[in-house]
Amino acid sequence: MRVGIVGCGAIGSFLASNLDGAALLDRHPERALRLADETGGAAAPGLEELVDTSDLVVEAASPAAVEEVGDAALSAGRDLLVMSVSGLMDEGVREALLGLAEGSGAEIYTPSGAVCGLDGIRSASVARVDSVVLTTRKPPAALEGAPGVDEGSLSGLDGPVELFEGPADEAVSLFPRNVNVSAALSLAGIGPAETVVRIVADPSLSRNVHEVDAEGEFGRLSTRVENVPSPDNPKTSHLAALSALATIRGIEASLKVGT
Ligand SMILES: NC(=O)c1ccc[n+]([C@@H]2O[C@H](COP(=O)([O-])OP(=O)(O)OC[C@H]3O[C@@H](n4cnc5c(N)ncnc54)[C@H](O)[C@@H]3O)[C@@H](O)[C@H]2O)c1
Repeated sequence: MRVGIVGCGAIGSFLASNLDGAALLDRHPERALRLADETGGAAAPGLEELVDTSDLVVEAASPAAVEEVGDAALSAGRDLLVMSVSGLMDEGVREALLGLAEGSGAEIYTPSGAVCGLDGIRSASVARVDSVVLTTRKPPAALEGAPGVDEGSLSGLDGPVELFEGPADEAVSLFPRNVNVSAALSLAGIGPAETVVRIVADPSLSRNVHEVDAEGEFGRLSTRVENVPSPDNPKTSHLAALSALATIRGIEASLKVGT
């Protein structure tokens, strides 16, 4: 499978280093050229050329890039892997890309990213699900600067403080850095209006922690992941890059494990 990667940052670089001869594109062309040099990949002159030479197009750039990259890939019948899942929270964008995929027979993949338990949530959602709650706990420094945090309010915390509890679609604008995880969870389960997000600043933590709790006809489910940051981008969890590679390997594998 020929893979083309749009976005040569933490996730794109990790993928390129673990795939043979990926096509590479970045809005900073020098990043694609450098990564091509380091990994034996090929820098593409533009999106059209990258799509032409790829069977699978990976978006590892930004939520704003999802529509353009998705449109180019799916219109040409190429499969699409979306890392900036929050770009799919916009119903207009999501429906348009789904329409293109259905028209061309291409697939859209959204890896689990930094969260765990999407397999169980998807299974559970075949029947009645009463609640899905995502609790994200972060060190205060990782939340500083978010629109949902008053300036200076997190300095000198001596215990955990809940900053937000509400539907995933409201959390989008207040805690944008958390959106990929809540978007993936919403799409796997009961949607952004019903999925509840809680954001907690916890000074005892050094890692970002995501907990998922769900209840329904199936019973109850709880998962918890303590994420190590990516060595190339502290805002990105290493597990997110691993999950992208696992998804790509899974496409080619004859044995599909999990839901
Ligand atoms: N699903 C998840 O759980 C999860 C976890 C972490 C990150 N992400 C998302 O994945 C994406 C990549 O993450 P990262 O840590 O590799 O980011 P990064 O900032 O390290 O790298 C992004 C790269 O994409 C390039 N870029 C941005 N917009 C572009 C465009 N329109 N066209 C071409 N190149 C473009 C940038 O120049 C940069 O080199 C981000 O949107 C991030 O929010 C998702």
